[in-house]
Amino acid sequence: MSETRAFIEDLPKAELHLHLEGTLEPDLKFKLSDRNGIDIPYSSVEEVKASYVFHDLTSFLVGYYDGMSVLIEEQDFYDLAMAYFRKAHSQNIVYAEPFFDPQAHTSRGVPFEAVVTGIHRAQVDAEAELGIKTNLIMCFLRDMSAESAMETLEASLPFRNWIIGVGLDSDERGNPPMKFKDVFARAREEGYHLTMHCDVNQENSVGHIWDAINEIGVERIDHGINSLEDEALIAEIKRRDLALTVCPVSNRYVTGSLTVDEIASMLDKGMRVLINSDDPAYMQAYLNENLVELAEDGNFTREQITQLARNSFLASWTSEEDKGEYLAMVEDYSA
Ligand code: ADE
Ligand code: ZN
Repeated sequence: MSETRAFIEDLPKAELHLHLEGTLEPDLKFKLSDRNGIDIPYSSVEEVKASYVFHDLTSFLVGYYDGMSVLIEEQDFYDLAMAYFRKAHSQNIVYAEPFFDPQAHTSRGVPFEAVVTGIHRAQVDAEAELGIKTNLIMCFLRDMSAESAMETLEASLPFRNWIIGVGLDSDERGNPPMKFKDVFARAREEGYHLTMHCDVNQENSVGHIWDAINEIGVERIDHGINSLEDEALIAEIKRRDLALTVCPVSNRYVTGSLTVDEIASMLDKGMRVLINSDDPAYMQAYLNENLVELAEDGNFTREQITQLARNSFLASWTSEEDKGEYLAMVEDYSA
């Protein structure tokens, strides 16, 4: 094993940009299709695996939503989340803020309560059994209407204490941040933290990031690679200390590049960038694989890798006390 890989594997880390539905591994998909009597056009785990191919964001999203058809019962969401927490624990992820996409389930007739209760139960068990702490972020699907997002926000209120923040994902084309201005304003009033995808190389990416900051008031930006194209935007992101949750292997599927130079540049400029896996079952790379590919490709130093881990905790929405403990773990490790 390379020295870099060994250093990354044992480094304590947080993951803040991870779609739980994107952790649906072929074997679990196959098992759930059987358990729920859902017809899928594959007769083996290998065939499911072979179906996880895509070449851009649009083709990825088709497979991603299609894969969810096997998630029906509360127990399915428990099993999905628990499998990710076990994997995360095995990679020395000590804290995570996973996303979930309620509308992708409620639109198929699965009750909001089943989704959130299954995930919450897994969060409680994962903390007790594995010691991994997690806080859940609810994403709105930006290719659905603002009205549907508002209804989803209202459906979440009985579970307010189980959800730390809201985000925005799915297909950005034609679905700018401003479409959801009122929804995010209401989410802020309800006390939710705010983040939002500003995907790589979208039409008007830079404008979307400005609006996410100035008009929506996000506390983090998911992806946000294109911010580097605008010096004033870089300065504003730094002034507000906004974190960028970047996903190298995911970026490679969309742009053909791991965005190594961009990530190195963000670190150089003192921007609060951190590394994440996005949809690891589909992209076949969990957090450590993302970090290893990035660090080896870019010849990253231990100090650069350590800064990425520090940033992952500094950007999190956990308590200041927990943050201090996690940061101390990073410093102990790197010393
Ligand atoms: N939903 C799940 N994964 C996503 C991604 N990579 N981009 C946008 N929406 C998503
Ligand atoms: Zn994402």
